Amino acid sequence: MKTICLQFPLETLDGRLLLPAGSSIHGSFLKGFLKNRRLPAVRQRLLFEHRRIESDLREFCAEKPYNAIFYSSAWTRGVFGILAGCRMRPAFFDFLDHFEKSDIYTYRHSLIVYALSVQIARVMDGPAGARRMSTVGPTHDFGKVCVPRSTLAKSTPLTAAERARLEHHTVAGFLLLAYYLGQGGGMAPVVARDHHERRDGSGYPARKKSFAREVEIVAIADVYDALISPRPYRRHCYDNRAALDELTAMGRSGKIRIGLVRALVALNRRSPANYLKCDLSLEKRGRPPAGNCHGILAS
Ligand SMILES: [Fe+2]
Ligand SMILES: [Fe+2]
Repeated sequence: MKTICLQFPLETLDGRLLLPAGSSIHGSFLKGFLKNRRLPAVRQRLLFEHRRIESDLREFCAEKPYNAIFYSSAWTRGVFGILAGCRMRPAFFDFLDHFEKSDIYTYRHSLIVYALSVQIARVMDGPAGARRMSTVGPTHDFGKVCVPRSTLAKSTPLTAAERARLEHHTVAGFLLLAYYLGQGGGMAPVVARDHHERRDGSGYPARKKSFAREVEIVAIADVYDALISPRPYRRHCYDNRAALDELTAMGRSGKIRIGLVRALVALNRRSPANYLKCDLSLEKRGRPPAGNCHGILAS
């Protein structure tokens, strides 16, 4: 991996300093960082055994436009059947509990992006792909535990320093998940690090142009949910049509893989079996909302 200089301190869920700002992160550093980390022998627990996760997720999937995506009992049963069998380490639950209390948007977003990613993987790669996707867990934004609440909730343009702190959630999520999950973390840390990268190199933190299938799937689910959900930096949400137009434009400009857009549009049209034949409209039919300060820096 490319060397990364940590711009901000890395803190655990309970506020302990793990690494100071300025730490240089590279392959051999990581080996040393994780070498002495003894994971306590804890029992992994079923995702749906924890508090209200199953009922909350069912509620989120029943809201528009997700009710179209999880439209039939067979499709909903398929995804929930896979998620019901997922066992997770305590860090996943601690992360969800943290945001359920402090930022309900991130709690909901984490769960719905997870379920949607499994659904997209199922359309594209079948049940085996969906099961593989489910091992990533609902923690792509784990690193947001290191971002001040005032930045996450800010309704006006971010300053350059705030934007850097927000972007730090990718590297922070990678390191924290590697720390909490050890060698058994699978793709979860990688997805946390790379889900804002884009295929044309315009993303962050490393401007990579190629990344794992799981990362690409979470990335499109992440953008879609952010567009159609209420956000502090935008007075109104995108309507579903405008959100799909936006993702189609990202696909056509090479930021995300066009096949992923086809899968998401096909799910919206309730025809996922033929997603490769799904035509994408060239016409912009939705209306992006006014008053959106996402991506604008405060001068
Ligand atoms: Fe993110
Ligand atoms: Fe996200």
